[in-house]
Amino acid sequence: MYIGFQHLHSTLAYAALILLVFSTVNAIYGWVTSASFAKKDRITGLVTMISVHLQLVIGLVLYVISPLGFKNLSGEAMADSTSRLYALEHPLTMIIAIILITIGYATAKRAHDDRTKHKRIALYYAIGLLLILSRIPWSSWPG
Ligand code: HEM
Ligand code: HEM
Repeated sequence: MYIGFQHLHSTLAYAALILLVFSTVNAIYGWVTSASFAKKDRITGLVTMISVHLQLVIGLVLYVISPLGFKNLSGEAMADSTSRLYALEHPLTMIIAIILITIGYATAKRAHDDRTKHKRIALYYAIGLLLILSRIPWSSWPG
């Protein structure tokens, strides 16, 4: 089960990153050109948000079952940068990024004008993306 979840999390990471880059660029373009917020823009933002919510659920399971997750959380782990990344920095930063992406989507949905909708997604998704990129274990992924 551990290997299965590890593969799922590692594979979905590609999809989530590609979708996030695409949504962010799309929203920045819509914002600067004052384009209308079409159905395709809403769906793009939604599919991206769902991909990170799924990644959150799989990540939480992994955190419990992986030897690198909760089981590795200790004083000694804090002194080792790789252990600290897996046991603390990666999960915490990813959760903050996912919360920001969810706020971006939710506030865009509630905004009244189209330019504000694009702007909310552009800003929140871009910050989420940067946080995610900052705490991916690049030494082990993509391989
Ligand atoms: C959008 C959000 C996330 C992305 C893009 C992401 C991406 C990744 C990637 C690329 C790896 C390395 C996989 C490999 O070495 O093959 C990884 C590992 C891991 N992630 Fe995430 N992650 C996210 C969210 C989370 C969350 C929310 C948690 C926990 C609460 C989490 C827990 C873990 C754990 C425990 C590992 C180590 C698994 C192991 O190899 O034993 N991740 N993640
Ligand atoms: C720990 C697990 C999860 C948490 C804490 C969580 C949290 C949230 C929150 C707070 C919202 C509200 C956003 C708003 O105010 O509009 C939301 C919306 C949503 N989430 Fe999640 N979620 C989780 C897992 C998932 C999963 C596994 C999926 C699907 C595969 C998913 C799909 C959605 C969808 C479709 C929406 C609604 C989007 C809309 O308003 O149109 N979530 N989630």
